[in-house]
Amino acid sequence: MRTPDLSADVADVLVTAADIQTKVAELGATLSRDYAGRELTLVSVLKGALPFMADLMRQITIPVQIDLMEVSSYGGASTETSGLVRILKDLSSSIDGRDVLIVEDIIDTGLTLNYLMRYLRGKNPRSLKICALLDKPARRLVEIDIDYRGFTIPDRFVVGYGLDYGEFYRNLPFIGVLRPEVYGES
Ligand code: PRP
Repeated sequence: MRTPDLSADVADVLVTAADIQTKVAELGATLSRDYAGRELTLVSVLKGALPFMADLMRQITIPVQIDLMEVSSYGGASTETSGLVRILKDLSSSIDGRDVLIVEDIIDTGLTLNYLMRYLRGKNPRSLKICALLDKPARRLVEIDIDYRGFTIPDRFVVGYGLDYGEFYRNLPFIGVLRPEVYGES
């Protein structure tokens, strides 16, 4: 993969930095209302959800604890749709009896979240819900109930605000569409 050119490699800005921040503030206010009087545990999935988690938690005005997981799907064409997920980093603390909200950057096929929901349900939380910044329904393979959604986006190759191509572009402050030449080149 050649060295990325952060501005030249983006064809379109799909969601501006300002629109992301407005939406994150709305989500934070909604969550603060919905969980009023309770404590909330935010569980984020590295690495893509890192900027969203960092911004969202600061827009929530009720007591919050955070935890981080890292997962990867098993590679290879035959396993791509199997939904098998490997846990690279597990929760640090028990979520038994806690109100848990999974914070994700994007739901694509839904396989990652489908696995995570089953895994986390097994740890006996009081409640378990999903907050996703981006929803790409065109690619869904398993049904996922998204409780809190930022933006529904078309089936395009998006990067930025945590989302990567070849581990780059995560630091863009907006959601952009990558030029097809870029991912055709590797
Ligand atoms: C992305 C994203 C979700 C998952 C969604 O993570 O953060 O976890 O893919 O895809 P799915 O709905 O098809 O399962 P990725 O595996 O790219 O890792 P990253 O967060 O480290 O970039």
